[in-house]
Amino acid sequence: MKRVLVTGGCGFIGRHVAQELVEHGYEVRILDVLLDQVHGGETVSIPADSELIKGDVRDRGTISAAISDIDAVIHLAAEVGVGQSMYEIARYVGTNDLGTATLLEALIKKPVERIVVASSMSIYGEGLYETPDGRRMNDARRSPIDVRAGRWDLLSAAGDMLLPVPTDEEKRPDLASIYALTKYAQERAVLIFGQAYDVDAVALRLFNVFGAGQALANPYTGVLANFASRLANGKRPMIFEDGKQKRDFVHVRDVARAFRLALEQRPAAGHAINIGSGRSYTISEVARLLAEAMGVPRLSPEILGKSRAGDIRNCFADIAKARELLGFEPSHLLENSLGEFAAWVRNSVAVDRGADMKRELEERGLVS
Ligand SMILES: NC(=O)c1ccc[n+]([C@@H]2O[C@H](COP(=O)([O-])OP(=O)(O)OC[C@H]3O[C@@H](n4cnc5c(N)ncnc54)[C@H](O)[C@@H]3O)[C@@H](O)[C@H]2O)c1
Repeated sequence: MKRVLVTGGCGFIGRHVAQELVEHGYEVRILDVLLDQVHGGETVSIPADSELIKGDVRDRGTISAAISDIDAVIHLAAEVGVGQSMYEIARYVGTNDLGTATLLEALIKKPVERIVVASSMSIYGEGLYETPDGRRMNDARRSPIDVRAGRWDLLSAAGDMLLPVPTDEEKRPDLASIYALTKYAQERAVLIFGQAYDVDAVALRLFNVFGAGQALANPYTGVLANFASRLANGKRPMIFEDGKQKRDFVHVRDVARAFRLALEQRPAAGHAINIGSGRSYTISEVARLLAEAMGVPRLSPEILGKSRAGDIRNCFADIAKARELLGFEPSHLLENSLGEFAAWVRNSVAVDRGADMKRELEERGLVS
């Protein structure tokens, strides 16, 4: 039986990954520092038959102990808020990049067969676009002047509207936040390490992950969790810009399966691979669907008409590479999964800190 270390295994995605691995006969050890912002001091449940080490990935002694007698590592431990990364810079670079560096140094002394790291769609910045005559635009981006003036959509130099298309892995990264920078550094560090030390290394570029277990009290994470916390407290979801920006929502159980496949499929080694649903949804549509699923359709979204520093307009995944290298196929679409998500929210404590998050960003001039 293979033994796998899951760093950040008490987090939203980590718990599902650990469950998926246990169900498929792996022995799982979790290393997690149990951050207050994520867990709020609450007890976390991990799958029976898995082992928990409470500790920090930046701590050499802890990480060395955690990787003893381990065959593979899934590295998820990270600080995950895009907005917060713009002012808690040392904290984000410290956990995400120094954490990964410390793990990799430990793996030089105690090699494993495979390491899989969670990267992120955020590394792309804007997704891929095409011009009206079908030319690929690898580096489309909005000027801050246009964004401040409320011109949200992307235009070509000639002033034509650019068409957002599914983003593939060939799209050039365009790092627009400190979080994105740290995720890209994590991804590259793991892939470079894999090549240098002959360890199979895989980076999964996750799109917007949703599902039961999202940190509802943490306003810096997923948009769906933020909307759910607002709705559960009788408040309208707050939407930046005009709500027509498009994203790709992938179910956490599909993501957990993708991590298992990344451990098992040899052809994936050496690659960075998108994990999304391959579909796109406008943010307004998502807020509306969720309000319906939660039984409060009258709580229509509040469109703020303001933008956040580092935000992009559109990004949704081309998942052809995941299909080819991992045999990955998403099986839980957003529109079919919101009932289950709403039921979970009803049984959870959903503290709404959305307004605090907006104020924190405004105080630092990161909303305009
Ligand atoms: N949720 C998404 O939509 C999404 C999208 C793209 C990428 N990702 C990536 O997936 C991974 C997991 O994200 P998540 O949504 O489950 O986040 P999460 O915040 O729920 O989980 C992260 C876990 O890591 C732990 N952790 C943080 N710092 C640590 C440290 N120094 N040492 C040990 N443990 C530490 C936290 O306590 C937490 O349990 C992250 O690497 C994140 O960047 C998530």
